[in-house]
Amino acid sequence: MSEPLLRVEHLKKYFPLRGGLKKNAAFVRAVDDVSFTIRPGETLGLVGESGSGKTTLAQMILGLLPPTEGTITLDGADIWDKAHRAQFHKSIGAVFQDPASSLNPRTTVYRSLERPLELNGYSKGDARDLIYETAEKVNLGRELLERFPYELSGGQQQRVSIARAIMLRPKLLVLDEPTSALDVSVQAQTLNELLELQQKFGLAYLFITHNLSVVRYMSDRICVLYGGKIMELGETEAVYDHYVHPYTLSLLSSVPPLHPSQRNRKKYLLTGDMPSLIGELKGCRFASRCPFAQDSCREAEPECKDMGGEHLAACAFAGELDFQKD
Ligand SMILES: Nc1ncnc2c1ncn2[C@@H]1O[C@H](COP(=O)(O)OP(=O)(O)O)[C@@H](O)[C@H]1O
Ligand code: SF4
Ligand SMILES: [Mg+2]
Repeated sequence: MSEPLLRVEHLKKYFPLRGGLKKNAAFVRAVDDVSFTIRPGETLGLVGESGSGKTTLAQMILGLLPPTEGTITLDGADIWDKAHRAQFHKSIGAVFQDPASSLNPRTTVYRSLERPLELNGYSKGDARDLIYETAEKVNLGRELLERFPYELSGGQQQRVSIARAIMLRPKLLVLDEPTSALDVSVQAQTLNELLELQQKFGLAYLFITHNLSVVRYMSDRICVLYGGKIMELGETEAVYDHYVHPYTLSLLSSVPPLHPSQRNRKKYLLTGDMPSLIGELKGCRFASRCPFAQDSCREAEPECKDMGGEHLAACAFAGELDFQKD
C-alpha cells in the first residue's frame, strides 16, 4: 500500500468565545482530535451534518487556519514548516462551494488564472500556454477566458475555480461542497468532470459534502464526522453496506439503500439539533440523539474501535448493535 500523501494527526480547533485564550474561557470545539490519511490519487469523502466541523477541518488542511493542537503533514513535511511553504502552496489546491465569491469580480477569467502563475515566476508566454491547456482540460471554452465572472453561469464559474485550483498541478485538491450551490442539472456533469480530472492528473481529493449520494459516488473511503469527531471511517463499501455506528445508520436512513442486504435494516431519522460544542464535553457526542444510548455512553468517551480492514468506529457498542428490523 502506498505511503500517505496527507497525514492528519490529533487535529483540534477550539474557537475561543468571550475571554480569548485565557484559562477557563469557553471554546467551541469545532474539530476535536481528528486523525486520518489520504493516499496519492485517492478520494476521501468527508460527510456530516451542517456544523460538524467539515469546513474548519478543510481550512486547517489548506493552511488557512492554524490548528489549536495536532499536526498536518503533506509528503512527510509539516505544512506549517516555513521551509516547505512554497512547495505546499503548489501541492494543494482548493475549490469552494460558491465559485462567484472565490473569483475576483473585477478581473477577467484569464487574469484570475494568470495571477497565481505570475506569483510563481511564470513568463507571460508560459502562463498563456498553461492557461489554454488547463482551460481545455476542464472543458472551459477559450472564448470564455476574456469574460468577467458575472457573465458566466454557475457551472462555468465553478470550472474556472477548478482550473485555478489545478493550475500549478497540485497533488491534492480540497473540495468543500463544490457542487452544492449548482443547479441539479449541472451537478452530475461537474462530478463526472472532477472524476476525469482526477484520472488525468493522478490527483487525490478530500471531497467534502453533506450529500450522502454524492459522497458515495465520488469516494474511495469515507469519513463520517459529527460534533467535531470522527464517528466512522472506512472503505466506501464498508461504510455504506456494513456500517456499525448508529450515527451512520441515522444518516443513511434518509437515502434509499443500494445494497439488497440493507433493505432489512432499521431506519432512524435524525431529529433535533447537534448538541452545543461549547464547554467541557463528556461521553459520546452522539448520545443525546442516539437510539441505542446507555447511561455509560454519557460518562466515558468511546474508543475508536478497529472493525478490521481499516474500518474504524467510535461507538462503545460497535459491532454489537442489532440494526436489523424485527
Ligand atoms: N470562526 C469561528 N468562530 C467560532 N465558531 C466557529 C467559527 N467557525 C466555525 N465555528 C463553529 O464550529 C462548528 C463547525 O463549523 P463548520 O466547520 O463550519 O462545520 P460544517 O462545515 O461541517 O458545517 C460550528 O459549531 C460553527 O458554529
Ligand atoms: S457510544 Fe453509545 S451513544 Fe455513542 S453512538 Fe454508541 S451507542 Fe450511541
Ligand atoms: Mg461547511
